[in-house]
Amino acid sequence: MAEAFNDLTLSADKATRYAEVAEEIASVLDGESNLTARMATVASMLANSFDTYFWTGFYVVDPAKDRELVVGPYQGTLGCLRIAFGRGVCGAAAATGETQLVPDVHAFPGHIACDGRSQSEIVVPVFGTDGELIAVFDVDSDRPAAFDEVDQLWLERILKTTFG
Ligand code: SME
Repeated sequence: MAEAFNDLTLSADKATRYAEVAEEIASVLDGESNLTARMATVASMLANSFDTYFWTGFYVVDPAKDRELVVGPYQGTLGCLRIAFGRGVCGAAAATGETQLVPDVHAFPGHIACDGRSQSEIVVPVFGTDGELIAVFDVDSDRPAAFDEVDQLWLERILKTTFG
């Protein structure tokens, strides 16, 4: 019972912080159209809002390649540079166009271990103004099961508002 109460309290705190940072991001980016600047700002502001975030950033669809992602603006330790659609968690988000919520990365077939400390992650597809996939947004945590539906709802909302 106490545990369920704590979970609810934490979820409410988390949702409140997401709502605040969503407004802060919109305000900082007001009038800025450069995509790299927008992605760098989103990665920085979200990474600095939650201590569960260990690696935070974008893998961008590479127009010069066939179904391949290339690393974009991020915060964290060295990330791998390229990920084919369908490979690992980022590749699954790119291939399906759907958010991947992964409580245990070691149980995810084909997970790419850029940093062995990653335990759980969420990857959200990012669509541009024409509805086309432009990137995926990847957040890794060094804690197991760090992300839930609250993270999914707010990240999808922030990314849609910022890039859609
Ligand atoms: N975890 C990702 C790889 C990217 S890094 O962790 C920065 C994946 O399996 O898609």
